Amino acid sequence: MKKLLKKYLPPVMLGGVRKIRDALPLWMLTRKGRWIRREYWQFGQDQRSFVFMSIARFLHINRPVPGYYFEFGCNEANTMRKAWDHFQHLFDFTYVGFDSFEGLPEIAEIDRQPIWEKGKLAFAEQRFIKRVRGHGMPAEKLKTVKGFYDTTLTPELKSRLMPTKAAVIYIDCDLYASTVPVLEWIIDFLQVGTVIVFDDWYCFHGDPKRGEQLAWNEFRQRHPQLRFSEFVRTNEAASFVYVGRD
Ligand SMILES: C[S@@+](CC[C@H](N)C(=O)[O-])C[C@H]1O[C@@H](n2cnc3c(N)ncnc32)[C@H](O)[C@@H]1O
Repeated sequence: MKKLLKKYLPPVMLGGVRKIRDALPLWMLTRKGRWIRREYWQFGQDQRSFVFMSIARFLHINRPVPGYYFEFGCNEANTMRKAWDHFQHLFDFTYVGFDSFEGLPEIAEIDRQPIWEKGKLAFAEQRFIKRVRGHGMPAEKLKTVKGFYDTTLTPELKSRLMPTKAAVIYIDCDLYASTVPVLEWIIDFLQVGTVIVFDDWYCFHGDPKRGEQLAWNEFRQRHPQLRFSEFVRTNEAASFVYVGRD
């Protein structure tokens, strides 16, 4: 049945079928469906919540650290809403979402993987805003920067957002080629205590010579004067705290 649906339904409709399945009450699902929803999917959600709650504790205990919540890779607003849920009561952040809102860029050779192609993960900017606003974030707290990072992350954008620094930088853009410009651009927003999270740390089978890990390792080599301390990790993500420069 699944194979038939995959064969004959266009991918857009397949997304609809998935949504209907996800909305069904637990008792209507097969044993496998129940396990996927209740145990497997929930585990992923809990891991992410662990990262956000750990950051909340860290930032709060340490001062609290003021500034921006930057998110690179916004898609369906899952992490943006989680950030709001975990930070709204303790910190007065402005939340900035950076995304093409047209999905992934052309896939460079180093980022090739069967699951990725240009345009995948597209989610319109207005839908993203509506979803985050619908979740309770006031309009004045949310900014979006639409476009591919190699063109939007300019010195002009930097001066528009400064002098406020970043409290949290959440990087969820999957690809090595997308992470490189992000890391170079954020340097001036670092302050002691800024937490950087890599949501896709173990993509590419955890290969340190690919993806976000490669971008980070090269960044550390290019900027040895910037000091970081390892922070929490999960089965998917890794994070670091900026502690100053030599
Ligand atoms: C895995 S999704 C992000 C998921 C999102 N954090 C959530 O929780 O719903 C990756 C996102 O990165 C964006 N992206 C990847 N490379 C990009 C680039 N070079 N410029 C702009 N956006 C990019 C894609 O458009 C996509 O929305």
